Amino acid sequence: MTPTITVEELRALLEKGAPVTILDIRPTQDFLDWHIPGSLHVDAYDALKAHDPTALTVVELPTDQPVVTVCASGKISQIAADFLATHGFHAFSLEGGMKAWSLAWSSAEITVNNAPVHIIQVRRTGKGCLSYLIGIEKEAFVIDASLDPQVYLDLARNRGWHITRVFDTHIHADHLSRSRQLAERSGAILLLPDQQRASFPFTALHDGDTIVTKDTMLTALHTPGHTLESTCYLLNHAFLFTGDTLFSTSVGRPDLHADEQEARARAALLYHSLHKLLALPAETFILPGHTSQPVPFDGVPIGARLAEIDERVDLLHVRRTVFVETLIQRLPPTPPNYERITQLNEAGFLPDEDITELEAGANRCAIT
Ligand SMILES: [Fe+2]
Repeated sequence: MTPTITVEELRALLEKGAPVTILDIRPTQDFLDWHIPGSLHVDAYDALKAHDPTALTVVELPTDQPVVTVCASGKISQIAADFLATHGFHAFSLEGGMKAWSLAWSSAEITVNNAPVHIIQVRRTGKGCLSYLIGIEKEAFVIDASLDPQVYLDLARNRGWHITRVFDTHIHADHLSRSRQLAERSGAILLLPDQQRASFPFTALHDGDTIVTKDTMLTALHTPGHTLESTCYLLNHAFLFTGDTLFSTSVGRPDLHADEQEARARAALLYHSLHKLLALPAETFILPGHTSQPVPFDGVPIGARLAEIDERVDLLHVRRTVFVETLIQRLPPTPPNYERITQLNEAGFLPDEDITELEAGANRCAIT
């Protein structure tokens, strides 16, 4: 029997910085599409499949730490692990391969000065989905839950927090929202931007609505464009959770579920929404809903001050007509399965089918 390691076991090792070598044996293009940050690569898939004994002789691996072999679904990586084991390595095959790795996550804490508030950024490392757990004294809010509800429940319980409110910034198209299920499991209130799309009960938030607790103030800022209901959440006038409206180096795409005319209209709305955000204080820290790169296990939050993004993103400095034309010209391919994912998110339903298959592929919500 080939020794294997689960996604959760490997994730936990990487999160605590344990020494481990990851060897990805997939074809080069698959590796370039996405991979576990820090992994070594050798294009040995075909050779291993053919049981070529020289398949892995070109790679130099450390002998003093475990080696985890990775392929697309965890089959050929077993041949690789067996081969390495016979050559004296402490080798394991990643169960389920990169498909299963889609649900791996890491966390990073964002420092909040002068308030008993903690923000934990929970990152789906493969897809680049960023969600947030905000702890305030004994309660917690969650924004854009994209992982199994148990992940957030455990993180909150370990800090002594009880999740009382769960928010989404918009109806997502690239991953299944877990917010409804998290709200049900935790007994929290589910809050979504006001819209007629979701067919399940929720508390609607409108522009300017504010939730006040003893130490926090969270204000909804309606920022249509990426979707018509897209809403950002401003915490204590200092942190802005922007969903897919504004990213660290790019802006949201306006075209999903839209023909060209509607995409142009939404791009124009996005222009106004972005300029509404740019009017906030320059030191406002932007915490986006996605990143386009696989997230490393480095504990470093993904985000930037508004001033830095303003300087970095040229699209924020062009006239509206140029902005609209540029966005339409730069549209990336649509996310895989986005129509089915949107339907499920509107229904608030997590299907029995293989979710990792449905959510496969990198995030495609941004335009640079
Ligand atoms: Fe989105």
